Amino acid sequence: MHTVEAFRDLQSEAIAWRHHLHENPELGYAVHDTARFVTEKLASFGINHIETGIAETGIVALIQGAGGDGPTIGLRADMDALPILEASNKPWSSKVSGKMHACGHDGHMAMLLGAAKYLAKTRNFKGSVALIFQPAEEVELPSGGLRMVQEGIMDRFGISQVFGMHNSPSVEVGKFAICDGPIMASQDDFDIVVKGRGGHAAKPHETIDPVVIAAQIIVGLQSLVSRSTNPLESLVISVTKFNAAQAYNIIPDHVEMAGTVRTLVPGLRDFAEQRILAVAQGIARGFGADIEFKYRRSVPVTFNHTEGTNLAINVARHLVGLASVNDNIERRMGAEDFAYMLEARPGAIILLGNGPTAGLHHPAYDFNDDALSYGIAYWVNLVETALAS
Ligand code: NI
Repeated sequence: MHTVEAFRDLQSEAIAWRHHLHENPELGYAVHDTARFVTEKLASFGINHIETGIAETGIVALIQGAGGDGPTIGLRADMDALPILEASNKPWSSKVSGKMHACGHDGHMAMLLGAAKYLAKTRNFKGSVALIFQPAEEVELPSGGLRMVQEGIMDRFGISQVFGMHNSPSVEVGKFAICDGPIMASQDDFDIVVKGRGGHAAKPHETIDPVVIAAQIIVGLQSLVSRSTNPLESLVISVTKFNAAQAYNIIPDHVEMAGTVRTLVPGLRDFAEQRILAVAQGIARGFGADIEFKYRRSVPVTFNHTEGTNLAINVARHLVGLASVNDNIERRMGAEDFAYMLEARPGAIILLGNGPTAGLHHPAYDFNDDALSYGIAYWVNLVETALAS
């Protein structure tokens, strides 16, 4: 296995790519210039099997090893930025007002490009590597990872295992963190409209006040977590929107509320959908009102498979040492659309230390250039280990 030092030269090149990408952020599926930049780089590395336009702007590039036949493993990077006004004050700050790479996807692309350059030159493995660059990780349904899977990339490129990497500001540079099994939560969203009867705020007895009913529903939903869910299993139900009348003296005829459900236990999604409806409907009907209910399933639980996780741990340990790899990090209640790829194929996502920077999605966040060589080395060693010839 190679050391991190072996990739220092490549790191200075990757820094330049990263800064270019950081200065020119694009959102969602509209990552046209980003995809063009990535495609041109891949072609310049001598990779000739490049398919573009998957899920609008996604790319899959195939590098064949020199070691003969073998499986194909997929390595994934995400390409989209966020609608945030940058406040990092870095010389390479976003040139596009109101858009920035606040989740480090610029760094993710630069690391996968760095690994691609090295792997295309050396080809010291059997089988093939599929480099997956996906758009629209940050958007709501259907996100880029899902659409690339739906457009058949796993079958079309014969991918048998898939790996991801995301930077983490809570982990030191030069360290990695991962866990077997569920590592990030699923995300579902719901909307509830409480339909009562409006009227004058001074004559509540002539109304069916949806505000009071909606307030009881919010409290009722919290008891689904505290009283109906196994305390050893994680479930979050957060009501985040609440729209009622816009006046002091009006009881509205309806209230709109909405929220999100996060869990690490796939079965709790069915439970949440059924029980939120039952509680909201039961409370509303008890007071003579009714509800409309919508439950929208978004990203599934990001589930690391044991074999892929063990491979990732071994590669990371060889690279940075036993003490610098946390192999049992606390699971996270945020969602990650790499989950769709891990539903389609076994594999694992690992967290790469970004050091004590501002948090992800914060206006002052910036990917840490010192982390680039660790990420490049991880990708290269993962390929040469999984596809040892
Ligand atoms: Ni991200």
